[in-house]
Amino acid sequence: MKDIGKRFMEGTRFENLGPSDQMEGKDAPALSWLHEGETIALPDPKELSVGDIKLCDAIKERESVRAYKDDSLSFAELSHTLWATQGVRKKGKHVALRMVPSAGARHAFETILYVRNVEGLEKGLYRYLPFEHALAPWDTPDDVENLLVDASLGQKMPGRAAVTLIWVADVYRMYWRYGERGYRYLHLDAGHVCQNLYLVAEQLDCGTVAMAAFDDAKMNRLLGLDGEDRFVIYLAPLGKI
Ligand SMILES: Cc1cc2nc3c(=O)[nH]c(=O)nc-3n(C[C@H](O)[C@H](O)[C@H](O)COP(=O)(O)O)c2cc1C
Repeated sequence: MKDIGKRFMEGTRFENLGPSDQMEGKDAPALSWLHEGETIALPDPKELSVGDIKLCDAIKERESVRAYKDDSLSFAELSHTLWATQGVRKKGKHVALRMVPSAGARHAFETILYVRNVEGLEKGLYRYLPFEHALAPWDTPDDVENLLVDASLGQKMPGRAAVTLIWVADVYRMYWRYGERGYRYLHLDAGHVCQNLYLVAEQLDCGTVAMAAFDDAKMNRLLGLDGEDRFVIYLAPLGKI
């Protein structure tokens, strides 16, 4: 497997790709996972006034932070964070635009959150519903916090932050248009999402850190994902500093 990276880059060059499912006329997948059942509405991001700072200052001050106070995040701050990282800004019939860019506007991520200390929310896992701007409870295993730290190769941040955002790639949403090359784009897209989180952290007097060092199998098992069609691509804790 020593040359797997080189083979991946070679195999995903345009000249080595066959026609994608979209080119072959197959139906596009849904824009987000369906949810039936209980939801928790989040406050309208347009009506929120969370700390405003100059973009230039946010860029200058941004840094990775791995220690947080044990203070809670407000519900409004959580709402703003989810909107800024994965919120929807325009919706058409077959395509939606969000607050971050995405290759071909495929937006192939779902956000699962581990809520530890957010006002008004019980501890546990939730999924962000971007089109409703709401939360849905997600099956939370007993001892989720220890499992999350263990799946993060012992990195303690998710056990100390107010909330941890876990981004899950839904491969076919990207693959449908780009085939194997779509895997490149999933990883590029994830960076944009997390960068917005870094900037929001500055705005909210919070700290965050991108986390890509984790045990894939453990992380996916913890969230009940198959690890192939749906897998954790990136995560980031967020807490007051
Ligand atoms: C793709 C990626 C993966 C990262 N994974 C981790 C991680 O698992 N754990 C961690 O503590 N920091 C992680 N980081 C944070 C980097 O260590 C950090 O960005 C770097 O040291 C530079 O520091 P700065 O962000 O404060 O400028 C990651 C950053 C990126 C962009």
